[in-house]
Amino acid sequence: MTNEAIPTLEAFDEASLDKAFAALENRARVDATFISNDADVERFRLEWLGRKQGRLNDVSGSWLKAAPPEAKKLLGQRFNALKATVDGLLEQALGAGPSDAALAAEAIDITLPGTRRLTGAEHPITKTLNEIVSVFAGLGFSVGVGPEVETDFYNFESMNFPPGHPARDTQDTLVVANQERRSLRDRLLLRTHTSPVQMRTMEQQPPPVRIVIPGKVHRNDAADATHSPIFHQVEGLCVDTNITFSDLKGTLDHAMKALFGSSVKTRFFPSFFPFTEPSADVQISCIFCGGKGCRKCKNSGWIELLGCGMVDPAVFAFAAEKQPAYDPQKISGFAFGMGVERIAMMKYGVSEIGQFYAGDMRFLSQFF
Ligand code: PHE
Repeated sequence: MTNEAIPTLEAFDEASLDKAFAALENRARVDATFISNDADVERFRLEWLGRKQGRLNDVSGSWLKAAPPEAKKLLGQRFNALKATVDGLLEQALGAGPSDAALAAEAIDITLPGTRRLTGAEHPITKTLNEIVSVFAGLGFSVGVGPEVETDFYNFESMNFPPGHPARDTQDTLVVANQERRSLRDRLLLRTHTSPVQMRTMEQQPPPVRIVIPGKVHRNDAADATHSPIFHQVEGLCVDTNITFSDLKGTLDHAMKALFGSSVKTRFFPSFFPFTEPSADVQISCIFCGGKGCRKCKNSGWIELLGCGMVDPAVFAFAAEKQPAYDPQKISGFAFGMGVERIAMMKYGVSEIGQFYAGDMRFLSQFF
């Protein structure tokens, strides 16, 4: 770069001005391409923007002064545009960054392998829950959910646990504090099972119903190897005309075979739930010993896995308050409820329920 003076301006018409300014702008651009270090930047700045002998100073000094009054505005506009261009070029040069030496010093070896971020994967409980749901989806069941903070009415009363009834003691309940002013049926609690969603579903839609409801439930139980105060269930409900206990047996026998393998057998053991009548516990032939008897099945050959039964007419009576079609004289149904953790523990041979919640990658990564 050499600091040549700017040419003398002969004419002040628009075309001449355009030509003169274009020539200067072009020169600034060319000059800027020669900038390669900090000293070059400073030289460029002085040559173009220097207060005393910078070219822009020359332009305003000689061209602007010599311009006749009517050309001053045209010239001023072009001067401002040129100044903006030069400022921009300088800014670019300043932002061009550190010297080659500085760059070389902080260079990184991009041929080194990177640190790989783990991709997310389904938690074994989610995986099992989805698997259970999809078995029933394959049978035409839809999927629903309900609230975890539930009222006494849905969790207990409508499920045929009357106030003060000893059946309530079978599900140790965590209740929300300071509810005394509400009537008992409106008091809030953490649902102890997914069964209240049976009632919420029936209130929303008339029969026929075929639905599975996965979700989290809470009980005031001490944690041990097989119990956790928070766990997951999948509820099932089927209501239509002429639904019989054999429909229930066939459905659950199919589901257990789909989940544990086709050689698994099921048996239905008499039980009690307030909301089903008759009620049963479903046992499957021990998947560890094939039914011969081992420590896991306490030598019985059978393992208890879930609760079920025919929907109690008293439950239909509650549903019929909002949906009269739930007339126990005309329809019937079955329901079932299973613990997801329990099924996951069986399927994957996990002996401590706490492993599912500990967040230990050594455990979880086995399920990727
Ligand atoms: N709600 C019951 C429980 O949590 C399980 C169940 C659901 C039993 C539906 C029968 C029918 O123990």
